[in-house]
Formats: sequence, C-alpha cells, structure tokens
Amino acid sequence: MEPAPRHDDPPSPPAHVAIIMDGNGRWARERHLPRIAGHKRGAETLRKVLIAAGELGIAYLTVYGFSSENWRRPADEVDELMSLLRHYLCSELAELHANGVRVRVIGDRGRLHKDIIALVEDAERQTQDNTVLHFTLALSYGSRHEIVEAVRRFAQQAATGDLDPENISEEDFTAHLSTAGIPDPDLVIRTSGEMRLSNFLLWQSAYAELVFTEKLWPDFCKQDLTDAISEFRQRERRYGATGV
Ligand code: FPP
Repeated sequence: MEPAPRHDDPPSPPAHVAIIMDGNGRWARERHLPRIAGHKRGAETLRKVLIAAGELGIAYLTVYGFSSENWRRPADEVDELMSLLRHYLCSELAELHANGVRVRVIGDRGRLHKDIIALVEDAERQTQDNTVLHFTLALSYGSRHEIVEAVRRFAQQAATGDLDPENISEEDFTAHLSTAGIPDPDLVIRTSGEMRLSNFLLWQSAYAELVFTEKLWPDFCKQDLTDAISEFRQRERRYGATGV
C-alpha cells in the first residue's frame, strides 16, 4: 500500500502540463531575424523544457507544435517548420529514448509529408515502452477536427447497428479522441501574452487551470515552468462543486 502523504511532503506537481508555445515570430522580429530563427530557438526551448519537466516530476507533457490552422502560413514558413520538425525528430530521439521519454504525436497525419510520418511512427515505436515522461507533440492538430472525427466514428457504428446512441458516455467519447489513454491536462500554459486556447485540447481542458505568461516561447525557461506550477497550486480546483 502507498504510504499516506505526510504534511511536510513537497506538494506533488500537476500530472499533466500542456503548453501552447507562442511568440517565436515576435522573438525573431524583436531581433530583426527571420521568423525561422525564432522557431529554431523555440525548438531549443522545447528541449530544455522537456528536461525541466522530468526534473520537476511532471508525468505528461503535451505541446502544440503545429496547428491545423498553421497550414495557412506562407509556404516558405511551413516548409521551414517541417524541416525543423524533421531535424528535431532525428536529433532528439536518441536522447529522449535514453531518458525514458515516451513520444506520441496527435493530429491529422494525412497532411504531413510521408517521410515525417515515417519519422513519427519510428519515434512512437522506439519509445512505446518508456514510462518516465509521456511527451505528446500535437502536429497538424486541431481539437474541432479531432472531435468531429470521433463523432464520425460513433455515427458510423450507429449506422451499422453496432452502437446504440443512447449508450454513448463521456468516457466513450474520451476514448475515441487521439489523446485516449492520456489523462486530461491539469495545467495549460500559453506563452507570449495571448489568452486563448486556439483549438488546442478543447474537450480535454474542460477543467484545466489556465496560466498565461508574457514570456515569448524562446525565452521560456525552467523558472517560468516552476512559476506556472506555483500559480496552479494556488488555484482551488472545484470541478463545478462548491469550495470547502
Ligand atoms: C507559435 O509562434 C509557434 C509555432 C506556430 C510553432 C511552434 C514550433 C516550435 C516551438 C518549434 C519547435 C517545435 C517543433 C515541433 C520542432 P508564432 O510563430 O505564432 O509566433 P508569433 O505569434 O510571435 O508570430
């Protein structure tokens, strides 16, 4: 049996932290650099934040790497982001695996280049038994698309008589999302001062605490993550019930 937590034990971290990594473009503009320079620095930040998350005892880290709406950016920027992603998946995999990180990718893979899909599948396969930190990268991801896909599958099962719509529960719905098996985020952080979810984990974040920071993503560091967790701890999570 697990020992009961002692009064003076350090408070446990949120199990699942999700991050909207925003502000790469502004970081680059402030330095008169091309936008891709901001994304490259952002990729370095992601590497450091993954290490910090492990050190802080976070079990699940999910980040918004590329949204379904990001395909509307100029072709040059999309190509550069895809090259960066390719490079990231190749260069980071060995270290992630060595550190016990399980990598998962959520989003509409059909829109990704074939070679990127192969890299993603390889990363998922190689790390599938790791348990130290569950890292989920949202790529070509949009929550509304994910929800519509789940509804489509329910509708198909209902049409063939394999499902009685009366029996659909919230748990069934959760199990039909791309995040099936991953607990809901406790804390969602967005950098760069923007205060919206931008189609990220809409269903899953129903009861998440939201923390917004002015820091641009390339400047985000372990201390900022620690500060966000401190702010999370000060919130009273009531899940719709009354406080004590
Ligand atoms: C938002 O900044 C960020 C993105 C659209 C891409 C996020 C990508 C990274 C952090 C690079 C590393 C990730 C991978 C998957 C390799 P923005 O461009 O919208 O910034 P702005 O709002 O200041 O213009």
